[in-house]
Amino acid sequence: MEAQATYNYKVVRQFAVMTVVWGIVGMLVGVIIAAQLIWPDLTYGIPWLSYGRLRPLHTNAVIFAFGGSALFATSYYVVQRTCHTRLFSDGLAAFTFWGWQAVIVAAAITLPLGYTTSKEYAELEWPIDLLITAVWIAYAIVFFGTIAKRRTPHIYVANWFFGAFILTIALLHVVNSIEMPATLWKSYSAFSGARDAMVQWWYGHNAVGFFLTAGFLGMMYYFIPKQAGRPVYSYRLSVVHFWALIFTYMWAGPHHLHYTALPDWTQSLGMLFSLILLAPSWGGMINGIMTLSGAWDKLRTDPILKFLVTSVSFYGMSTFEGPMMSVKTVNALSHYTDWTIGHVHSGALGWVAMISIGSLYYLIPRLVGRSEMHSVGLITVHFWVSTIGVVLYIASMWIAGVTQGLMWRAVNDDGTLAYSFAESVKAMYPFYSIRLAGGLLFFGGMLIMAYNVWKTMAGAKAVDNVPAPVPAAAH
Ligand code: HEM
Ligand code: HEM
Repeated sequence: MEAQATYNYKVVRQFAVMTVVWGIVGMLVGVIIAAQLIWPDLTYGIPWLSYGRLRPLHTNAVIFAFGGSALFATSYYVVQRTCHTRLFSDGLAAFTFWGWQAVIVAAAITLPLGYTTSKEYAELEWPIDLLITAVWIAYAIVFFGTIAKRRTPHIYVANWFFGAFILTIALLHVVNSIEMPATLWKSYSAFSGARDAMVQWWYGHNAVGFFLTAGFLGMMYYFIPKQAGRPVYSYRLSVVHFWALIFTYMWAGPHHLHYTALPDWTQSLGMLFSLILLAPSWGGMINGIMTLSGAWDKLRTDPILKFLVTSVSFYGMSTFEGPMMSVKTVNALSHYTDWTIGHVHSGALGWVAMISIGSLYYLIPRLVGRSEMHSVGLITVHFWVSTIGVVLYIASMWIAGVTQGLMWRAVNDDGTLAYSFAESVKAMYPFYSIRLAGGLLFFGGMLIMAYNVWKTMAGAKAVDNVPAPVPAAAH
């Protein structure tokens, strides 16, 4: 008889804990740069603490360290649980953990020192790019190897989304990072001019679509049904959602480059596909939210469900806002303004961070053999603190962005500009202060989470080698 399979929870636990750690680090840097925008001299002109160096540190820390660790943790957990089998290779899984932490540490050293390729969200220099590639190949082998040796007949929809995320990020990373090393810490992109811009935003937008969306949809499709105790609202819709989303995202990148040297037709194509993208995005959102049918009452008392469902609502909001901002005439106002920053954080804090937090609150007790977190009350506090934080952040940025856009285009009767640029900067102070307050609240929520996680794990015993269900044929 076949030996009974067990699950590897160790690597899931390692990534889960590091999600909280990197969340705190990344958001702390976010709070610092938000403060620098109010007090430019905050860091006394020290070069490696300057805004220009800390900003990419923030984006890399929150997207790749915090978001990445959450994706590794949840995908490794979900793929095992839904395939009823252990990860394909414990050794390779451990390599992905240590390799990914090494990437993050390398980023945290090189970015403040000013080493950068200057490509947004792909700033890391070529030696780190190579390490990312090695880790990612190992990740793909572990994930797809596990799917291949599954003991269930079908592949659960969450794994489709995780799988698409892994494959697409591999493709995006390799193509956008084609570069010629000049020295150990300096390389030059293989692309130039408008083509470079096009490749960069094909990468950049799909990093949003696949790193910041597809994998998190995988979380949505697993953790919402689990926490609500209800099956996914519609499997048929989930299949349509999957194919429509991954097909459409690929074409939308040029909306980041409206009114630039890019051929005009590519800009219009990007806009068109962005508008179409509303449909699959909302199809997915509806599928997530409607999974609560028959369990709505739980929302009143269960703070984990509150996190998960609110995150999907923010997903719906940001995927409505995005298509709107991709319309050229709207973009003419919104581009270069804080409206974009508001949009980014309604997706990043409202959707990405909140679904990760909800999923971790489900996951962490189970990794140490407990049925729930140390304090459910503190999860409720965390929920309200972070929700108010996001709302303050994005509402202030909307007003800031529209104000900037309108001030920059205002003209006097004689055709001269009504406002100098400095006047528009001055008008931002109140909004930047509100954003800082929102950011501090969200960051404070992460500290509450860290305390709760600490109390949940301290004293509890790490659960390892949990047995997987015995396949029907083996009975
Ligand atoms: C406490 C929480 C956070 C605070 C206070 C914060 C603050 C900031 C600030 C001040 C900026 C620069 C804005 C500018 O250049 O005008 C920024 C940029 C950015 N942040 Fe955050 N952030 C937070 C959390 C997050 C999270 C969790 C994510 C992603 C998961 C994220 C993703 C980004 C991205 C992608 C940008 C660049 C946006 C762009 O270039 O358009 N942030 N953040
Ligand atoms: C249907 C879905 C979406 C569409 C069509 C869309 C569209 C857009 C548009 C038009 C911009 C402004 C480009 C510019 O003027 O520079 C933008 C920026 C951005 N969006 Fe979205 N968005 C969508 C969903 C999301 C989600 C869910 C997230 C995050 C989780 C997100 C993250 C970002 C980021 C990080 C940027 C800033 C990029 C940069 O300039 O650095 N978007 N998006």
